[in-house]
Amino acid sequence: MNHLDHIRYEIPVIDPGSPVVIIGAGGIVQGAHLPAYQLAGIRVKGIFDIDIPKAEKLAEAYNIPRVYGSIEQMTGENGNSCIYDIAVPGNRIAGLLAQLPDNSYVLMQKPMGENQQQAESILQLCREKNLTAGVNFQLRYAPYVLMAKEMIKAGAIGGICDVEIYVNVYTPWHLWSFLEGAERVEILYHSIHYIDLVRHLLGEPRGIFAKTTRHPKMAKLQEVKSNIIFDYGEFLRVHIATNHIHDFGLHNQDAFIKIEGTKGAIKIKLGLLMNYPEGVEDVFEFILQDEPSASWKSVPINGSWFPHAFIGSMHEIIKAKHGIINRPDNSVEDCINTMRLVEEAYRQNASFR
Ligand SMILES: NC(=O)c1ccc[n+]([C@@H]2O[C@H](COP(=O)([O-])OP(=O)(O)OC[C@H]3O[C@@H](n4cnc5c(N)ncnc54)[C@H](O)[C@@H]3O)[C@@H](O)[C@H]2O)c1
Repeated sequence: MNHLDHIRYEIPVIDPGSPVVIIGAGGIVQGAHLPAYQLAGIRVKGIFDIDIPKAEKLAEAYNIPRVYGSIEQMTGENGNSCIYDIAVPGNRIAGLLAQLPDNSYVLMQKPMGENQQQAESILQLCREKNLTAGVNFQLRYAPYVLMAKEMIKAGAIGGICDVEIYVNVYTPWHLWSFLEGAERVEILYHSIHYIDLVRHLLGEPRGIFAKTTRHPKMAKLQEVKSNIIFDYGEFLRVHIATNHIHDFGLHNQDAFIKIEGTKGAIKIKLGLLMNYPEGVEDVFEFILQDEPSASWKSVPINGSWFPHAFIGSMHEIIKAKHGIINRPDNSVEDCINTMRLVEEAYRQNASFR
Protein backbone atom coordinates (compact mmCIF):
# COMPACT_ATOMS: atom_id res chain seq x y z
CA MET A 1 0.00 0.00 0.00
CA ASN A 2 2.59 2.59 -1.05
CA HIS A 3 -0.01 5.39 -1.12
CA LEU A 4 0.06 5.18 2.68
CA ASP A 5 3.67 6.31 2.68
CA HIS A 6 2.43 9.88 2.49
CA ILE A 7 -0.30 9.55 5.15
CA ARG A 8 0.27 12.82 6.88
CA TYR A 9 -1.74 15.55 8.52
CA GLU A 10 -1.50 19.03 6.99
CA ILE A 11 -3.22 22.04 8.52
CA PRO A 12 -6.33 22.40 6.35
CA VAL A 13 -6.55 25.65 4.43
CA ILE A 14 -9.93 27.14 3.58
CA ASP A 15 -11.03 30.72 3.01
CA PRO A 16 -11.88 31.77 6.59
CA GLY A 17 -14.60 34.12 5.31
CA SER A 18 -16.77 35.42 8.15
CA PRO A 19 -14.99 36.29 11.37
CA VAL A 20 -15.58 34.53 14.67
CA VAL A 21 -16.74 36.10 17.93
CA ILE A 22 -16.11 34.13 21.10
CA ILE A 23 -18.30 33.83 24.19
CA GLY A 24 -16.23 32.65 27.17
CA ALA A 25 -12.57 33.46 27.84
CA GLY A 26 -11.66 30.41 29.91
CA GLY A 27 -8.97 27.77 29.81
CA ILE A 28 -10.10 26.00 26.66
CA VAL A 29 -10.34 29.20 24.62
CA GLN A 30 -6.88 30.26 25.73
CA GLY A 31 -5.30 26.83 25.40
CA ALA A 32 -6.95 25.48 22.24
CA HIS A 33 -9.47 27.67 20.35
CA LEU A 34 -7.24 30.72 19.91
CA PRO A 35 -4.02 28.80 19.13
CA ALA A 36 -5.95 26.68 16.59
CA TYR A 37 -7.51 29.70 14.89
CA GLN A 38 -4.12 31.37 14.74
CA LEU A 39 -2.65 28.30 13.00
CA ALA A 40 -5.51 28.16 10.48
CA GLY A 41 -5.81 31.91 9.82
CA ILE A 42 -9.34 32.07 11.25
CA ARG A 43 -10.06 35.71 12.16
CA VAL A 44 -11.35 36.43 15.67
CA LYS A 45 -13.13 39.76 15.74
CA GLY A 46 -14.27 39.98 19.34
CA ILE A 47 -14.77 38.24 22.67
CA PHE A 48 -17.16 38.41 25.63
CA ASP A 49 -16.97 36.87 29.09
CA ILE A 50 -19.05 37.73 32.16
CA ASP A 51 -15.61 38.25 33.71
CA ILE A 52 -14.69 41.20 31.51
CA PRO A 53 -11.08 41.69 32.75
CA LYS A 54 -10.46 38.04 31.81
CA ALA A 55 -11.71 38.69 28.28
CA GLU A 56 -9.58 41.85 28.09
CA LYS A 57 -6.46 39.93 29.09
CA LEU A 58 -7.03 37.31 26.40
CA ALA A 59 -7.87 39.97 23.81
CA GLU A 60 -4.55 41.64 24.51
CA ALA A 61 -2.58 38.38 24.30
CA TYR A 62 -4.19 37.39 20.98
CA ASN A 63 -4.72 40.81 19.36
CA ILE A 64 -8.51 40.44 19.39
CA PRO A 65 -9.77 43.88 18.36
CA ARG A 66 -13.01 44.03 20.36
CA VAL A 67 -14.05 43.12 23.93
CA TYR A 68 -17.82 43.36 24.33
CA GLY A 69 -19.49 44.49 27.54
CA SER A 70 -22.54 42.26 27.03
CA ILE A 71 -24.08 39.66 24.73
CA GLU A 72 -26.55 42.30 23.49
CA GLN A 73 -23.64 44.49 22.42
CA MET A 74 -21.97 41.54 20.65
CA THR A 75 -25.11 40.46 18.80
CA GLY A 76 -26.16 44.06 18.09
CA GLU A 77 -22.87 44.81 16.35
CA ASN A 78 -22.60 41.52 14.46
CA GLY A 79 -26.08 40.17 13.71
CA ASN A 80 -25.67 37.21 11.37
CA SER A 81 -22.39 38.37 9.86
CA CYS A 82 -20.10 36.33 12.12
CA ILE A 83 -19.82 32.86 13.64
CA TYR A 84 -20.61 32.62 17.35
CA ASP A 85 -18.15 30.39 19.21
CA ILE A 86 -19.55 29.48 22.64
CA ALA A 87 -17.12 28.03 25.21
CA VAL A 88 -18.80 28.10 28.60
CA PRO A 89 -19.90 25.28 30.95
CA GLY A 90 -22.59 23.06 29.43
CA ASN A 91 -25.45 24.26 31.64
CA ARG A 92 -25.02 27.86 30.38
CA ILE A 93 -25.23 27.08 26.66
CA ALA A 94 -29.03 27.17 26.21
CA GLY A 95 -29.31 30.57 27.90
CA LEU A 96 -26.76 32.00 25.50
CA LEU A 97 -28.24 30.40 22.37
CA ALA A 98 -31.58 32.01 23.26
CA GLN A 99 -29.92 35.43 23.03
CA LEU A 100 -28.33 34.90 19.59
CA PRO A 101 -30.03 36.26 16.45
CA ASP A 102 -32.19 33.76 14.55
CA ASN A 103 -30.45 32.15 11.54
CA SER A 104 -26.98 32.46 13.14
CA TYR A 105 -24.04 30.07 12.67
CA VAL A 106 -22.78 28.69 15.97
CA LEU A 107 -20.16 26.35 17.40
CA MET A 108 -20.74 25.34 21.03
CA GLN A 109 -18.32 23.58 23.35
CA LYS A 110 -19.09 20.06 24.46
CA PRO A 111 -20.94 18.83 26.38
CA MET A 112 -24.15 19.88 24.62
CA GLY A 113 -25.79 20.56 28.00
CA GLU A 114 -25.20 18.60 31.20
CA ASN A 115 -27.73 15.86 30.50
CA GLN A 116 -30.03 14.61 27.77
CA GLN A 117 -32.86 16.91 28.81
CA GLN A 118 -30.64 19.98 28.37
CA ALA A 119 -29.30 18.53 25.12
CA GLU A 120 -32.82 18.04 23.73
CA SER A 121 -33.73 21.64 24.72
CA ILE A 122 -30.60 22.90 22.94
CA LEU A 123 -31.57 20.94 19.83
CA GLN A 124 -35.11 22.29 19.98
CA LEU A 125 -33.88 25.86 20.41
CA CYS A 126 -31.52 25.51 17.43
CA ARG A 127 -34.43 24.26 15.32
CA GLU A 128 -36.80 27.03 16.45
CA LYS A 129 -34.23 29.75 15.82
CA ASN A 130 -32.97 28.12 12.61
CA LEU A 131 -29.42 28.13 13.94
CA THR A 132 -26.82 26.22 11.96
CA ALA A 133 -25.10 24.85 15.02
CA GLY A 134 -22.32 22.38 15.69
CA VAL A 135 -20.81 20.89 18.83
CA ASN A 136 -17.08 21.00 19.52
CA PHE A 137 -16.53 17.23 19.59
CA GLN A 138 -13.16 17.86 18.05
CA LEU A 139 -11.46 14.48 18.58
CA ARG A 140 -13.07 13.57 15.23
CA TYR A 141 -10.70 16.08 13.60
CA ALA A 142 -7.52 15.34 15.57
CA PRO A 143 -4.64 14.88 13.12
CA TYR A 144 -4.11 11.21 14.03
CA VAL A 145 -7.83 10.46 13.76
CA LEU A 146 -7.95 12.04 10.28
CA MET A 147 -4.96 9.87 9.34
CA ALA A 148 -6.67 6.75 10.67
CA LYS A 149 -9.89 7.63 8.81
CA GLU A 150 -7.93 8.01 5.57
CA MET A 151 -6.44 4.53 6.02
CA ILE A 152 -9.81 3.00 6.92
CA LYS A 153 -11.48 4.68 3.93
CA ALA A 154 -8.76 3.34 1.64
CA GLY A 155 -9.62 -0.17 2.89
CA ALA A 156 -6.07 -0.61 4.17
CA ILE A 157 -6.97 -2.40 7.42
CA GLY A 158 -10.04 -4.19 6.07
CA GLY A 159 -13.32 -4.37 7.99
CA ILE A 160 -13.08 -3.02 11.53
CA CYS A 161 -13.61 -5.74 14.14
CA ASP A 162 -12.12 -4.31 17.33
CA VAL A 163 -11.80 -0.82 18.82
CA GLU A 164 -10.19 -0.26 22.19
CA ILE A 165 -9.71 3.09 23.90
CA TYR A 166 -7.53 2.83 26.98
CA VAL A 167 -6.55 5.65 29.34
CA ASN A 168 -4.48 5.12 32.50
CA VAL A 169 -3.16 8.53 33.51
CA TYR A 170 -3.19 11.14 36.22
CA THR A 171 -5.56 13.97 35.24
CA PRO A 172 -5.34 17.13 37.37
CA TRP A 173 -9.12 17.56 37.67
CA HIS A 174 -8.69 20.55 40.01
CA LEU A 175 -7.83 22.65 36.92
CA TRP A 176 -11.57 22.61 36.06
CA SER A 177 -13.04 24.09 39.22
CA PHE A 178 -16.59 23.98 37.78
CA LEU A 179 -16.45 20.17 38.02
CA GLU A 180 -16.52 20.27 41.82
CA GLY A 181 -20.12 19.71 42.75
CA ALA A 182 -21.02 18.56 39.21
CA GLU A 183 -23.35 15.55 39.27
CA ARG A 184 -21.48 13.86 36.42
CA VAL A 185 -17.79 14.04 35.63
CA GLU A 186 -15.83 11.37 33.75
CA ILE A 187 -18.22 10.18 31.05
CA LEU A 188 -19.85 13.59 30.56
CA TYR A 189 -16.62 15.58 30.39
CA HIS A 190 -14.00 13.12 29.11
CA SER A 191 -15.15 9.76 27.77
CA ILE A 192 -17.84 11.67 25.86
CA HIS A 193 -15.09 12.41 23.30
CA TYR A 194 -14.49 8.67 22.81
CA ILE A 195 -18.21 7.88 22.67
CA ASP A 196 -18.55 10.53 19.98
CA LEU A 197 -15.52 9.19 18.11
CA VAL A 198 -16.82 5.61 18.20
CA ARG A 199 -20.19 6.75 16.76
CA HIS A 200 -18.37 8.85 14.18
CA LEU A 201 -16.25 5.88 13.03
CA LEU A 202 -18.75 3.03 13.36
CA GLY A 203 -22.25 4.52 13.30
CA GLU A 204 -24.91 4.03 15.95
CA PRO A 205 -24.42 1.03 18.27
CA ARG A 206 -27.27 -1.27 19.25
CA GLY A 207 -26.58 -0.51 22.90
CA ILE A 208 -24.12 0.78 25.47
CA PHE A 209 -23.20 -0.52 28.94
CA ALA A 210 -21.24 1.39 31.55
CA LYS A 211 -19.94 1.42 35.09
CA THR A 212 -18.32 4.63 36.26
CA THR A 213 -16.48 4.92 39.56
CA ARG A 214 -15.30 7.51 42.10
CA HIS A 215 -11.87 7.64 43.76
CA PRO A 216 -11.35 7.85 47.53
CA LYS A 217 -8.76 10.63 47.13
CA MET A 218 -11.12 12.76 45.02
CA ALA A 219 -13.84 13.33 47.60
CA LYS A 220 -15.02 16.56 45.95
CA LEU A 221 -15.62 14.89 42.60
CA GLN A 222 -18.11 12.37 41.34
CA GLU A 223 -16.82 9.56 39.08
CA VAL A 224 -13.31 9.77 37.62
CA LYS A 225 -12.92 6.27 36.10
CA SER A 226 -15.14 4.43 33.64
CA ASN A 227 -15.67 1.17 31.80
CA ILE A 228 -17.90 1.49 28.77
CA ILE A 229 -18.87 -1.33 26.42
CA PHE A 230 -20.69 -0.87 23.12
CA ASP A 231 -22.91 -3.44 21.46
CA TYR A 232 -22.07 -3.61 17.77
CA GLY A 233 -23.22 -7.17 17.34
CA GLU A 234 -21.40 -10.44 17.01
CA PHE A 235 -18.15 -9.52 15.29
CA LEU A 236 -17.21 -6.07 16.54
CA ARG A 237 -15.85 -5.51 20.07
CA VAL A 238 -15.68 -1.89 21.20
CA HIS A 239 -14.80 -0.64 24.65
CA ILE A 240 -13.44 2.31 26.58
CA ALA A 241 -11.53 1.93 29.85
CA THR A 242 -10.36 5.05 31.66
CA ASN A 243 -8.58 5.56 34.96
CA HIS A 244 -7.65 9.22 35.50
CA ILE A 245 -6.20 8.69 38.99
CA HIS A 246 -3.12 6.60 38.26
CA ASP A 247 -1.11 8.66 40.75
CA PHE A 248 2.06 6.58 40.50
CA GLY A 249 4.29 8.52 38.12
CA LEU A 250 4.66 8.40 34.37
CA HIS A 251 6.26 4.95 34.24
CA ASN A 252 3.03 2.99 33.80
CA GLN A 253 0.81 5.72 32.39
CA ASP A 254 -0.63 4.92 28.99
CA ALA A 255 -3.36 6.22 26.70
CA PHE A 256 -4.24 4.91 23.27
CA ILE A 257 -6.85 4.30 20.61
CA LYS A 258 -6.39 0.92 18.90
CA ILE A 259 -8.39 -0.01 15.82
CA GLU A 260 -8.07 -3.56 14.50
CA GLY A 261 -9.37 -4.66 11.13
CA THR A 262 -9.43 -7.90 9.20
CA LYS A 263 -6.24 -6.92 7.31
CA GLY A 264 -4.36 -4.62 9.64
CA ALA A 265 -4.39 -2.43 12.71
CA ILE A 266 -3.74 1.14 13.82
CA LYS A 267 -2.55 2.24 17.26
CA ILE A 268 -2.54 5.88 18.28
CA LYS A 269 -0.77 6.86 21.49
CA LEU A 270 -2.55 9.85 23.06
CA GLY A 271 0.60 11.40 24.50
CA LEU A 272 -1.24 14.61 25.36
CA LEU A 273 -3.12 12.87 28.18
CA MET A 274 0.03 11.50 29.82
CA ASN A 275 2.07 13.63 32.23
CA TYR A 276 -0.70 16.24 31.79
CA PRO A 277 -0.52 19.15 31.05
CA GLU A 278 3.04 18.86 29.64
CA GLY A 279 2.15 15.66 27.76
CA VAL A 280 4.50 13.29 25.95
CA GLU A 281 4.81 12.68 22.23
CA ASP A 282 1.84 11.20 20.36
CA VAL A 283 2.63 8.16 18.21
CA PHE A 284 0.79 6.87 15.14
CA GLU A 285 1.56 3.24 14.24
CA PHE A 286 0.04 0.77 11.84
CA ILE A 287 0.53 -2.74 10.54
CA LEU A 288 -0.81 -4.10 7.24
CA GLN A 289 -0.86 -7.86 6.87
CA ASP A 290 -0.88 -7.86 3.07
CA GLU A 291 2.52 -6.16 2.98
CA PRO A 292 5.52 -8.45 2.55
CA SER A 293 7.12 -9.07 5.97
CA ALA A 294 4.37 -7.11 7.71
CA SER A 295 5.60 -5.15 10.71
CA TRP A 296 4.48 -2.15 12.76
CA LYS A 297 5.45 1.17 11.17
CA SER A 298 5.22 4.58 12.72
CA VAL A 299 4.43 7.77 10.82
CA PRO A 300 5.06 11.38 11.92
CA ILE A 301 1.87 13.17 12.92
CA ASN A 302 2.59 16.88 12.43
CA GLY A 303 0.01 18.08 14.95
CA SER A 304 -1.95 16.97 18.00
CA TRP A 305 -5.45 16.87 19.52
CA PHE A 306 -4.79 20.24 21.17
CA PRO A 307 -4.93 22.58 19.38
CA HIS A 308 -5.11 21.20 15.81
CA ALA A 309 -8.38 19.28 16.20
CA PHE A 310 -10.13 22.54 17.08
CA ILE A 311 -9.50 23.76 13.54
CA GLY A 312 -11.64 20.93 12.18
CA SER A 313 -14.72 21.63 14.29
CA MET A 314 -14.71 25.34 13.41
CA HIS A 315 -14.05 24.57 9.73
CA GLU A 316 -17.29 22.59 9.62
CA ILE A 317 -19.25 25.71 10.65
CA ILE A 318 -17.31 27.93 8.24
CA LYS A 319 -17.94 25.49 5.36
CA ALA A 320 -21.67 25.47 6.17
CA LYS A 321 -21.76 29.28 6.29
CA HIS A 322 -20.02 29.43 2.90
CA GLY A 323 -22.52 26.98 1.44
CA ILE A 324 -19.75 24.41 0.77
CA ILE A 325 -21.71 21.84 2.81
CA ASN A 326 -25.38 21.78 3.80
CA ARG A 327 -24.87 20.90 7.42
CA PRO A 328 -21.77 20.67 9.62
CA ASP A 329 -20.58 17.12 10.17
CA ASN A 330 -20.64 17.93 13.93
CA SER A 331 -24.18 19.37 13.79
CA VAL A 332 -26.43 19.37 16.85
CA GLU A 333 -28.66 16.98 14.87
CA ASP A 334 -25.79 14.48 14.79
CA CYS A 335 -24.27 15.18 18.20
CA ILE A 336 -27.57 14.75 20.03
CA ASN A 337 -26.99 11.03 19.48
CA THR A 338 -23.71 11.23 21.40
CA MET A 339 -25.60 12.92 24.25
CA ARG A 340 -28.29 10.21 24.14
CA LEU A 341 -25.62 7.52 24.45
CA VAL A 342 -24.02 9.36 27.36
CA GLU A 343 -27.40 9.46 29.09
CA GLU A 344 -27.89 5.75 28.46
CA ALA A 345 -24.39 5.07 29.87
CA TYR A 346 -25.37 6.84 33.11
CA ARG A 347 -28.69 4.99 33.15
CA GLN A 348 -26.80 1.70 32.87
CA ASN A 349 -24.42 2.79 35.61
CA ALA A 350 -27.35 3.56 37.92
CA SER A 351 -28.62 0.00 37.48
CA PHE A 352 -25.59 -1.23 39.50
CA ARG A 353 -26.69 0.64 42.64
N1 LIG B 1 -11.59 19.10 24.59
C1 LIG B 1 -12.55 19.93 24.78
O1 LIG B 1 -13.34 20.07 23.90
C2 LIG B 1 -12.68 20.69 26.05
C3 LIG B 1 -11.61 20.78 26.93
C4 LIG B 1 -11.79 21.56 28.09
C5 LIG B 1 -13.01 22.16 28.35
N2 LIG B 1 -14.03 22.00 27.45
C6 LIG B 1 -15.37 22.57 27.71
O2 LIG B 1 -15.34 23.98 27.54
C7 LIG B 1 -16.20 24.58 28.50
C8 LIG B 1 -15.40 25.64 29.22
O3 LIG B 1 -14.27 25.04 29.81
P1 LIG B 1 -13.04 25.89 30.34
O4 LIG B 1 -11.99 24.91 30.72
O5 LIG B 1 -12.68 26.97 29.40
O6 LIG B 1 -13.70 26.51 31.67
P2 LIG B 1 -13.27 27.81 32.46
O7 LIG B 1 -13.93 27.71 33.77
O8 LIG B 1 -11.80 28.01 32.39
O9 LIG B 1 -13.93 29.00 31.59
C9 LIG B 1 -15.29 29.17 31.41
C10 LIG B 1 -15.51 30.65 31.16
O10 LIG B 1 -16.87 30.86 30.79
C11 LIG B 1 -17.27 32.10 31.35
N3 LIG B 1 -18.72 32.15 31.40
C12 LIG B 1 -19.56 31.39 32.14
N4 LIG B 1 -20.84 31.72 31.87
C13 LIG B 1 -20.80 32.67 30.91
C14 LIG B 1 -21.80 33.39 30.21
N5 LIG B 1 -23.09 33.19 30.44
N6 LIG B 1 -21.41 34.29 29.28
C15 LIG B 1 -20.10 34.51 29.05
N7 LIG B 1 -19.11 33.87 29.69
C16 LIG B 1 -19.45 32.94 30.60
C17 LIG B 1 -16.59 32.10 32.72
O11 LIG B 1 -16.51 33.41 33.27
C18 LIG B 1 -15.22 31.52 32.38
O12 LIG B 1 -14.28 32.52 32.04
C19 LIG B 1 -16.69 23.45 29.41
O13 LIG B 1 -18.00 23.08 29.08
C20 LIG B 1 -15.79 22.30 29.12
O14 LIG B 1 -16.45 21.05 29.16
C21 LIG B 1 -13.89 21.30 26.32
